[in-house]
Amino acid sequence: MSLRELQERIEHIKRESQEALQRCRSVKDCEGVRVTFLGRRGKVTTLFEYLKDLSGEERPQAGRLLNELKSHIEAQLEARAYQLKAQELEEQLQKERLDVTLPGRAYRLGTLHVITQTLREIYRIFQQMGFEVYQTREVETDEMNFQLLNIPPDHPAREMQSTFYTTTPGVILRTHTSPGQIRVMRERCPEPIRVILPGKCYRYEQITPRSEIQFTQVEGLAVGRGVRMSDLKGVLTEFARQMFGPETAVKLRGSYFPFTEPSVELDIRCILCEGRGCRVCKGTGWLEILGAGMVHPTVLQNGGYDPEEFTGFAFGMGPERIAMLKHRIEDIRLFLGNDLRFLEQFG
Ligand code: DAH
Repeated sequence: MSLRELQERIEHIKRESQEALQRCRSVKDCEGVRVTFLGRRGKVTTLFEYLKDLSGEERPQAGRLLNELKSHIEAQLEARAYQLKAQELEEQLQKERLDVTLPGRAYRLGTLHVITQTLREIYRIFQQMGFEVYQTREVETDEMNFQLLNIPPDHPAREMQSTFYTTTPGVILRTHTSPGQIRVMRERCPEPIRVILPGKCYRYEQITPRSEIQFTQVEGLAVGRGVRMSDLKGVLTEFARQMFGPETAVKLRGSYFPFTEPSVELDIRCILCEGRGCRVCKGTGWLEILGAGMVHPTVLQNGGYDPEEFTGFAFGMGPERIAMLKHRIEDIRLFLGNDLRFLEQFG
């Protein structure tokens, strides 16, 4: 190839590359153009091979022209790529436009379940009196749930607590939190104990406005040397006053539980009618709040404590009942019904 022909080719390639760059629609297209002209097998690169055909005088001039072509195309490429990049960015900004003046979408916070709130209130009151919160299991053995609590297999008290059985013989869902008493005693013996045991319980019963198959209980247990009935009365009176108001009148009424002796129930003056008698207190003026008593010697013994040396008191309450009285809730099924209109009232 002569120098002249080479010069014509250079001019041709210049125009060709210019047109190719004009056709580019994206930075990626520009990369294609670069490969076509400046790549290892590109149109400009291969032109360098013709230098050897030229005479010694022509060669430096031709070399210079080729190098100029190469830098020219490089510069054009860079300019076009820059232009396209700016264009792409502009398009993207238009497309993804953000209207910062639009009102924000409020993030809705949930609320604690009313039973969780009630439990926390119970914890707060008993922690003030030196009680520790102790968590124990919901799946229990028949032995823990009944036998060690002085409820033998044929005891009529089992009738009061219809049980959910598992497929494993002797393993049940606990019907009350009382089996936790045995577990704490066996773990802590011979240390003194002051704990509350909160948690879910299960009973195989008809679901009605007054009873659910799943519910919550909070058990209390104090064991030590010289723990007396008057300690129980003091603790429960303080609890009732903090929970239902400082003027709340309380009374202990004799009752029966197999795991306490003597056994009592705590009544408070009806918080709805203040004792005049209404539908909720069934005209008596009093509301039943919890069961309690002095821990039966046999139960102390089952926990590892010598009843000659140690005494204790225990109590068990239902947070659902407490929440129902405090908030005038008439149907226990609402707690697990997941109706937000109900739950949101306790924000
Ligand atoms: N476990 C009883 C129940 O579920 C409640 C109870 C009564 C617990 C008296 C006690 C207690 O610790 O002393 O009905």
